[in-house]
Amino acid sequence: MKMARKRLLIAIDGPSASGKSTIAKLLSRKLGYNYLDTGAMYRALAWKALQRNMKLNSEDELSQLARQSSFKFHQLGDDYRIMINGEDVSDKIRYPQVSEAASKISCFLGVRQALVKIQQEIGARGGLVAEGRDVCTTVFPEADFKFYLDASLTERAYRRYLELKESGIIASEEKVKEDIESRDKSDSQRTHSPLTRREDSIYIDTTDLTIEEVLNLTLDRIKFR
Ligand code: DC
Repeated sequence: MKMARKRLLIAIDGPSASGKSTIAKLLSRKLGYNYLDTGAMYRALAWKALQRNMKLNSEDELSQLARQSSFKFHQLGDDYRIMINGEDVSDKIRYPQVSEAASKISCFLGVRQALVKIQQEIGARGGLVAEGRDVCTTVFPEADFKFYLDASLTERAYRRYLELKESGIIASEEKVKEDIESRDKSDSQRTHSPLTRREDSIYIDTTDLTIEEVLNLTLDRIKFR
């Protein structure tokens, strides 16, 4: 009788534009697993809050919004889409105003608890590559593999600038760098589940590496075990 191979849970954390989304998507395709972009959930919620003109410092209202929102994910070819309450917001959530709002609302414990619950339900079946700021530390501390991807601020700002330009969003490189720096600060200094590297996460500095090199490094680690 053929034994079914265990479907692994792979968690990737890292700061903005460290390459984690690119690598997580490629890894999930290589392994035939699902892909979970937890940042897109915080972004979708922030977008909803902005659309409703909600105050971004109102913890109770934002936590309630998080508990009442439903999220759906689907893949269209190489494109990963996210829906909040039935509305596809995948493109709208990439604007810099939404990035900033997502970072702000992600500080609230009630917001995090609601989204982490959904993320853990998705991860319970295994066969998942999840990426974010706290997937190794809080959401899936028992993941089969944990990675922390990093890169210099200059390199990350350049990558994000190119990404925005490609999607038709105009932004100066200097402003992108400032935004990333301020988001890094709030994401890593907040009280609840700040971005930190667990000691048992595999650290990869992607500054001078190609996408293929980073992908191979992660795959080597996974095959090695
Ligand atoms: O990964 P991203 O840039 O799309 O994430 C947007 C914001 O969401 C980020 O600034 C902080 C928050 N976030 C979080 O707090 N926890 C996660 N697991 C993922 C994102």
